[in-house]
Amino acid sequence: MSDRLGVGVVGCGIGGHHVRAYQSLSKRFNVLAICDIDGVRAHELAAEHNVPRVSSDLAELCQWDELEVIDICTPSHLHFSQVRQALAAGKHVVCEKPVAGSLQEVDELIRAEAQSGRRVMPIFQYRFGHGLQKLKFLVGEGIAGQAYLTTVETAWRRRAAYYAAPWRGRWATELGGASVTLAIHAHDALYYVLGPARSVLAHTATLVNPIETEDCVSASLQMADGSLASLSVTTGSAIQISRHRFCFSNLTAESNTQPYTNTSEPWVFSGDSPELTGQIEEALARFVALPEGFVGQFYRFHQALRGEAELPVTLADARASLELIAAIYHSAQTGQAVELPIGKGHPKYGGWQPEIPARARNAGALPPSR
Ligand SMILES: NC(=O)c1ccc[n+]([C@@H]2O[C@H](COP(=O)([O-])OP(=O)(O)OC[C@H]3O[C@@H](n4cnc5c(N)ncnc54)[C@H](O)[C@@H]3O)[C@@H](O)[C@H]2O)c1
Repeated sequence: MSDRLGVGVVGCGIGGHHVRAYQSLSKRFNVLAICDIDGVRAHELAAEHNVPRVSSDLAELCQWDELEVIDICTPSHLHFSQVRQALAAGKHVVCEKPVAGSLQEVDELIRAEAQSGRRVMPIFQYRFGHGLQKLKFLVGEGIAGQAYLTTVETAWRRRAAYYAAPWRGRWATELGGASVTLAIHAHDALYYVLGPARSVLAHTATLVNPIETEDCVSASLQMADGSLASLSVTTGSAIQISRHRFCFSNLTAESNTQPYTNTSEPWVFSGDSPELTGQIEEALARFVALPEGFVGQFYRFHQALRGEAELPVTLADARASLELIAAIYHSAQTGQAVELPIGKGHPKYGGWQPEIPARARNAGALPPSR
């Protein structure tokens, strides 16, 4: 492997942020190609960042030997097939969330990755905020104690302009609603610290926008470690916040509420006694900060490909996140709590999308926009 990995970025929406993150790590990555079926968007992004090659076809990028990494930032329903295509061409793959549309698909990707000798890294860049990283560090040091209760809020604002992109708001193309596209990060942060749930009871509703998929979610989780967690998600919040509040026996950790940077600092870590507060301060003095966000994830990706660290996000992590999504939808559709793990025999293993009656696909049949 060369020290400086050649990268091709596919999809020029959030893909623009990926390009900037790679270019800020210019000793490690070299963005050599941009791909988008929208030629104007691709040429504009390439010109803005001095990227030499432009294509409208992923198959073409797959043939370029100088690309070691293909980074997929296309609409969600394309991820599964495009990850397979890039792996089959011998590339390492970075892929935006959600990496697949079902547990069956992500299991296929896990098999394909194992056979390819290459790595697939799903994106969960919120993991690398320094506030969340400090909590992860304290848990790893054994200071936090037993987890009791966690609350996770994703209260964002998304209206007609957001759903103007035709792939959004539809089961077939967005693969789900706010649970899949927006709150997936905050819920991954919960799993990152505590591990997976063992039981999920959820309600979903479409109240804010005239879309097929849900835009409000309330879920109650029993975690595998025995603690409880409560998730709430809406796209109808006039004031946007994201919030994590972890209550452990030895400390409470509270994030800031900035909607898109709440895993970054400031976080408040309160010990349950002055002695514990002292231990927390002493431990955090030893915390080593690496880069955050996309830069943080790509920095660690490079370390992993060089064999210096574990892959910072794996397909197994993506599978856990998709399993929670499948459980949320199955619980909301059946009114029953869903026990995890979800394996091959489960009704939602092959996909969580409900049958949509043809008449409901007609936008006119859906409630008016607010
Ligand atoms: N990690 C994050 O914080 C974050 C933020 C936003 C979006 N996303 C994810 O990124 C993905 C894209 O979202 P977006 O907001 O950038 O969407 P977008 O619609 O703004 O951009 C997608 C781009 O992909 C292009 N495209 C479509 N089909 C293509 C194909 N076959 N080959 C090449 N290009 C193709 C489109 O022309 C478009 O330019 C989604 O899966 C979304 O969930 C992640």
